[in-house]
Amino acid sequence: MNPNLSIYDNLGGAEGVRSLVEAFYPRVQQNELLSPLFPEDIMPVMDKQYMFLSQFFGGPALFSEAFGHPMMRARHMKFPITDRHAEEWLGCMAGALIEIGVEDDLRDFVLQRLSGPAHHFVNTP
Ligand code: HEM
Repeated sequence: MNPNLSIYDNLGGAEGVRSLVEAFYPRVQQNELLSPLFPEDIMPVMDKQYMFLSQFFGGPALFSEAFGHPMMRARHMKFPITDRHAEEWLGCMAGALIEIGVEDDLRDFVLQRLSGPAHHFVNTP
């Protein structure tokens, strides 16, 4: 991990973020707790997540340019999200980071950055 670069650049830019998202959603779809929340056609979700994570990781603001202010917590309110959902979501992300070959220090840093938002989206006890 190069601490002078953004997460986006550390992951290898657009291609890296795309690979991450493509490794992540099959895990979500195979997860018993998470899969019922997601539509069968995962492509649109994958595209939006690619756009969001690009900007969240310090790359181009693709999501905001297309959809305006992210308001991510609000966008998740219609789904009942518990602490366990947050942990499973982060678990899928950890698996995806390993699958695409991200080294340990970068992986830990990325998971740490995502852990805040994941727990912030919890809206159900
Ligand atoms: C805490 C556990 C989480 C759960 C259970 C969850 C679940 C979901 C679900 C069900 C959708 C909607 C899929 C659809 O279009 O029908 C969604 C959309 C999305 N999620 Fe999550 N999510 C979680 C955490 C996160 C985190 C941590 C991020 C990013 C930091 C994130 C980013 C997004 C984005 C960008 C979308 C698309 C938003 C849109 O439709 O405009 N999610 N999520």
